[in-house]
Amino acid sequence: MKKSVKIRKIIFEILYDIHQKNVNFDEGFLFFTKNISLNDQDRSMIYNITLNSIRSNFYISNILNQYLRKRTSFRVKILLLSAITQILFLDFKSYAVTNDTVEVAKIKKLNPSLINSLLKNISNDIKIINKKKIDYSSIPIWFIDQIKKNNINLNNIIENISKEPSLHLVFKDKKLLRNFKEENIKTTDTSAFILEKKRIKEIRNYNEGHWWIQDFSSMLPIYLSPEFKSKNIIDMCSAPGGKAFQAISRGNEVILNDISIKRINILKDNLNRLRYKNNISNTNALNIGENILFDIVILDSPCSGIGTLRRNPEILFKKNPPNFNSLVNIQENLINKAARLLKKQGILIYMVCSFFFEETKAVKNKFLAENKNFSHYKFKIDKNSKLNKFIDNEGDFYTTPSEFNNHMIDGFYATKFKKND
Ligand SMILES: C[S@@+](CC[C@H](N)C(=O)[O-])C[C@H]1O[C@@H](n2cnc3c(N)ncnc32)[C@H](O)[C@@H]1O
Repeated sequence: MKKSVKIRKIIFEILYDIHQKNVNFDEGFLFFTKNISLNDQDRSMIYNITLNSIRSNFYISNILNQYLRKRTSFRVKILLLSAITQILFLDFKSYAVTNDTVEVAKIKKLNPSLINSLLKNISNDIKIINKKKIDYSSIPIWFIDQIKKNNINLNNIIENISKEPSLHLVFKDKKLLRNFKEENIKTTDTSAFILEKKRIKEIRNYNEGHWWIQDFSSMLPIYLSPEFKSKNIIDMCSAPGGKAFQAISRGNEVILNDISIKRINILKDNLNRLRYKNNISNTNALNIGENILFDIVILDSPCSGIGTLRRNPEILFKKNPPNFNSLVNIQENLINKAARLLKKQGILIYMVCSFFFEETKAVKNKFLAENKNFSHYKFKIDKNSKLNKFIDNEGDFYTTPSEFNNHMIDGFYATKFKKND
């Protein structure tokens, strides 16, 4: 099989698996590429086209509605999605895409003649096709319901998903950022967006461990918590490490726990690169002994990840929605455990990369209602600070996927509690 056909066949397989089996993009990509001999360029081509196909899905669905006369199988639509992404959104040569896609259609028995004629029509119409019109009927209903319930602008969110995320770095200290030689836009005195697109390992000071990657919105809750200084801290769900590294860099004693050995291994690599030597524990946080109590407990809980839609757009491409009931149940169990690991007068910080009520305020409200020895502990920041807009009227940290300093940031939520007795 011609290499370019093989590549396009793999793209189809990854997309189909993400949709059908609810797998994450990275898992699907790894599964279909790990045992195949491909060079770096082929791999990055697969990665790019697949991810961009998912990003363009709602726009291409609108185009397909105009060009497809008959009801068409989902498999054919997926193959067309990746081909149209290449032609309209990634500027590939349309004849090469069409020829290879027709070959894949033959192998997969997916109506090659329909695919051939449709892609030829689209190629002829490149200049007149409206690439920016969303097919709202292709957005999952569960997501639209949630967006309405949470009073969020759907258009803004969908547009944000289609933009590529920028890389955001957090530095161990201010001086390292001041001396950093890559072109950047500072977001705080210890963090910045990188302007040039580069491989992570090629960004300066990677090997020296001066910085780690962390989204701007997810670094802010700890950045905006001055009480995180010279304390004993446990981070119950810490891998791959961003929040814990922030706490370590502020001179706290931090134990880093996570249930996943795979993620703990990534965390260890990160710790080594950053030259941090902290205690790591690999257990279900619900089983952590309660004989040692902490000044601060960080709970960055497992969640739907809906706030990270820009980086994980496949959440809306999967056939099934996240299981919110089960996630909320996990969040409630973990937050109650966090409360038991805390010293009197200690601070518990609960965070999720979600902006949906169930995973954020509802967990907070229930926790406060059931734990009368805890009080809400507000984020307090200078009213004139440009970061003030991220603190809501209850004193919690809250963002939706949105633009900041011309760069896109994730949706994120954090709330803090104090243990009174
Ligand atoms: C949102 S991520 C944490 C991100 C991390 N705090 C950071 O800043 O890089 C949630 C983590 O919770 C872990 N996790 C899920 N259930 C857990 C449990 N019962 N006990 C401990 N860790 C758990 C997952 O493996 C995952 O690494």
